[in-house]
Amino acid sequence: MRINKYIASCGVTSRRKADELVLSGKVFVNGEKVTDFIDVDEEHDIVEVNGERIFREKTKYYIALNKPVGYITSVGDDRGRKSVTDLTTDIEARIFPIGRLDYNTSGLLLMTNDGDFANNIMHPSRKIYKTYVAHISGFPTPKTLDSLKRGIELSDGVTSPAKVKVIKAYPSSCDVEISIYEGRKRQVRRMFEAIGYEVLELCRISVGNVMLGNIPEGRWRHLTKQEIAFFKKSAERVHK
Ligand code: URA
Repeated sequence: MRINKYIASCGVTSRRKADELVLSGKVFVNGEKVTDFIDVDEEHDIVEVNGERIFREKTKYYIALNKPVGYITSVGDDRGRKSVTDLTTDIEARIFPIGRLDYNTSGLLLMTNDGDFANNIMHPSRKIYKTYVAHISGFPTPKTLDSLKRGIELSDGVTSPAKVKVIKAYPSSCDVEISIYEGRKRQVRRMFEAIGYEVLELCRISVGNVMLGNIPEGRWRHLTKQEIAFFKKSAERVHK
């Protein structure tokens, strides 16, 4: 099996990130650094990533976590901040977040040890909508919100069409529900900045057919068979 595929199947990270690990020299096979996508024999070869031996985990985990504000979604942090992996220590396997949520964003975060599954969800071609409630300063006009619906120019290009609606108004702010299928860095915050509004709070309430629902903050649940099947089907649709 190709080294990048093997790393992803060990639940270390997604396939794309596994490629980066190999190319950046973080992977050793039988004590030798590899920087190429060689084949490994999982029965006999000793594969280490970031200095730690990895093994294939037979049981696949698919979970939905309600991430609180104040947690990072990367697995390690050199600034000593809390990580979402601190909230899932009751799962025996090594699992990783599918995509990212900012330190200051709360809500639904899917996690898994299945690298292919993660890749499918993250890839924009799968058009898996992620829905957020953004609490923003002020009240954008319908015309201004239309520019977000159509797509708006950001420093890294025009965004894909979004679904946008105001769901609640307060004296000097409002809640806007926004659904996007891309996953660029700080995308929702930057989209609102581009139309002149600051996001004061941001919470993700769904990913595809998975709802945040009433998962308590900081807690997780397993995805149901139907939820897992939805993502697998959307991958098949694109491959056809
Ligand atoms: N968009 C953002 O700006 N932040 C997130 O955490 C997720 C989407």
